[in-house]
Amino acid sequence: MRSTHLFNHDWFFIPQKVTGDTPDSAFERVILPHTNKVMPHRNFDDKAYQFISTYRKHFTLPEPLNGRRLMLDFDGAMLATTVTINGHPFDEHKGGYVPFSLDITDYVHEAGDNLIEVHLDSTERPDIPPFGFVVDYLAFGGIYRDVFLRYVEPCYIENVRVSTHDVTSAHAYAQADVWVKNTTDDAQKVYISAEFEGDWDTEFVTSTEVIVPANSTLQTTLTLPKGTFELWSLDNPILYTCVVDLGLEAPNQPMTLIDQMKVKFGFREAQFRADGFYLNGEHIKLRGLNRHQTYPYIGAAASARLQQKDADILKYELGCNIVRTSHYPQSPYFLNRCDEIGLLVFEEIPGWQHIGDDAWKQVAKNDLRKMIERDWNHPCIVIWGVRINESWDDHDFYCDTNALARQLDPTRPTGGVRFWAESEFLEDVYTMNDFSNGIIEPTQSPWLVTEFNGHMYPTKSYDGEERKIEHAMRHAKIQNLAGANRKVSGAIGWCAFDYNTHVQFGAGDRVCYHGVMDMFRLPKYAAHFYASQISPAVLVVMKAATSWQPGDISEGLLNSIWVFSNCEQVTAYVGDEKIGTFTPAWDEFPHLPHPPFKIDGLGVAVARPNGDLRLEGLIKGKIVITQRISTDALPKKLTLTPDDAQLHADGMDMTRVVIKIEDTYGNPLPFATYPVTFEVHGEADLYGENPLVLMGGQGAVFIRARQTSGAVKLVARADKFTAECEIVMR
Ligand code: GAL
Repeated sequence: MRSTHLFNHDWFFIPQKVTGDTPDSAFERVILPHTNKVMPHRNFDDKAYQFISTYRKHFTLPEPLNGRRLMLDFDGAMLATTVTINGHPFDEHKGGYVPFSLDITDYVHEAGDNLIEVHLDSTERPDIPPFGFVVDYLAFGGIYRDVFLRYVEPCYIENVRVSTHDVTSAHAYAQADVWVKNTTDDAQKVYISAEFEGDWDTEFVTSTEVIVPANSTLQTTLTLPKGTFELWSLDNPILYTCVVDLGLEAPNQPMTLIDQMKVKFGFREAQFRADGFYLNGEHIKLRGLNRHQTYPYIGAAASARLQQKDADILKYELGCNIVRTSHYPQSPYFLNRCDEIGLLVFEEIPGWQHIGDDAWKQVAKNDLRKMIERDWNHPCIVIWGVRINESWDDHDFYCDTNALARQLDPTRPTGGVRFWAESEFLEDVYTMNDFSNGIIEPTQSPWLVTEFNGHMYPTKSYDGEERKIEHAMRHAKIQNLAGANRKVSGAIGWCAFDYNTHVQFGAGDRVCYHGVMDMFRLPKYAAHFYASQISPAVLVVMKAATSWQPGDISEGLLNSIWVFSNCEQVTAYVGDEKIGTFTPAWDEFPHLPHPPFKIDGLGVAVARPNGDLRLEGLIKGKIVITQRISTDALPKKLTLTPDDAQLHADGMDMTRVVIKIEDTYGNPLPFATYPVTFEVHGEADLYGENPLVLMGGQGAVFIRARQTSGAVKLVARADKFTAECEIVMR
């Protein structure tokens, strides 16, 4: 039978290329996911992590082979990986964003020690996408995703693809395509069955028998019985599990089960039509943001928990219904979470504006194949990006990528992101980066806006208030225009989070300040706009886009402010004086679910001692939320808030801890740029600058568990303030 072992522990690492005679004592002990260099969150040399490093791992087989094959699976290592097992070198794997597997059976010792040695080239090699020209993001180095050791029988299930059909009818059904690989020199007669896990009135099971020729892979299609199933939707993302069994039949012997694979999938129909996007027959206006997979300090080596958190932030804090994994396949943990919570995904191949030579294109096509073969069962994914982001037309190359995607997955449309409206339309959906600060009239159909804003209006969390407001209002304006035009399936803004980048982009400090949140995933005003589009039945939102200091804005008069809210009305007070009750700005934003509120007539020219701003959000005449902002903008409190109270004591788990300097009412103070120092008491590691200078009155560090259980206390100090929090490792 198949058996899989997580292989993340007990690696040795050295940030240089060394060979076997370098003693282990020269290495550092590490646990994956691993970044080859922990960085400050900005102001660093982006060459600092670009080197060849060596990873080494000694191991004995965790269980006997018993005639099975042994595979070493890498989920992702940046950027080119050469693995040697007990002195046997494998071909270099090129590409940092897709998984690869090595059959190491013939090179391992069944008894005694084995040695894996990995040379990982994390330089920006021009022969590997996305490199060869300039790129507006960083590909931090390291074996930054999981590694597994997997035992399989000589004849085994290589992959399973589950597709669903006629889902909105009473005759919905699933089809399981199963690839069986026979590595033996004899043909094998096998029994394959597919079944839905769970208790059913009807038996959702089907089976077949096939002969798999020697040394080959056979694809078989199993069609499961028809029925009525709960649909996977944004509000109710129901997942099913299909269990595929593989049995071996030998003459005069009972059948023996030799392999089993379980895949999660959902019944759903996603279509881009001329008049917009439809999920299960229902028109949905897509509203989303682009996500890069990088984080401060740890590069791309984020734990499962952090990956899941990003999906949660996009759905529950930013109210997105779609995310684009710009510009590459992202973590399986992120995508699994998108399945679980009902967040649609546009996934695309690695690349940025540049197409290389034939060998480079070959790597890109391999990336495409691996991305689709890895991810075709995710109901969250509704479109494959088969072009290099914003590259010029290349007829032959893109005919190939489209054909490959359609052959691998006939159920999903292709898209290919470009930045001009006249490029050759070889895909199923015209996916367009529209930086017009409006919505250009579609010239093709279906049409989806895959980026807007971004470099047109970079904005820092500590920029002046007027800039932060304009940034937020641009997002509001474009989402409103996208809402107005049925030919536009929706708009995915650039971007969710600030990200590290090369010197050619960004503010010079190696940061692109294009996020609606900062790099720590903490909100700018634009994030409040997105949050306010959430249904109030899910979350009531009301945030004013002001820090309530007239002296900090041009002409020193705070007469009107914008408030982002999904309430029906907002009542505003200055001190005890009621200014009025306001309704959403439907006239300006008729196509948003929840237009911002313009609160007028405040007439505040100087910060008054008793002039706190008080807002009350009302639904059906009842106050459901309030916000106060103090005129006395002095720091009153330092807060330290971990996202999680408990972590697994497995050496891998991580959580974010948010630090804020707040006014009396808990609002961050944008200019409280204090340095904060940290102390960790207990068995955990801090990833973050120490001291960390707050930006926009806020920041974050990460706590990583060690392999020891117990409570860990984090203490933070800034000026006269101290804050602490506890995280339990178990
Ligand atoms: C686009 C590009 C993105 C990002 C963005 C900034 O052209 O696709 O990766 O650089 O510009 O606005």
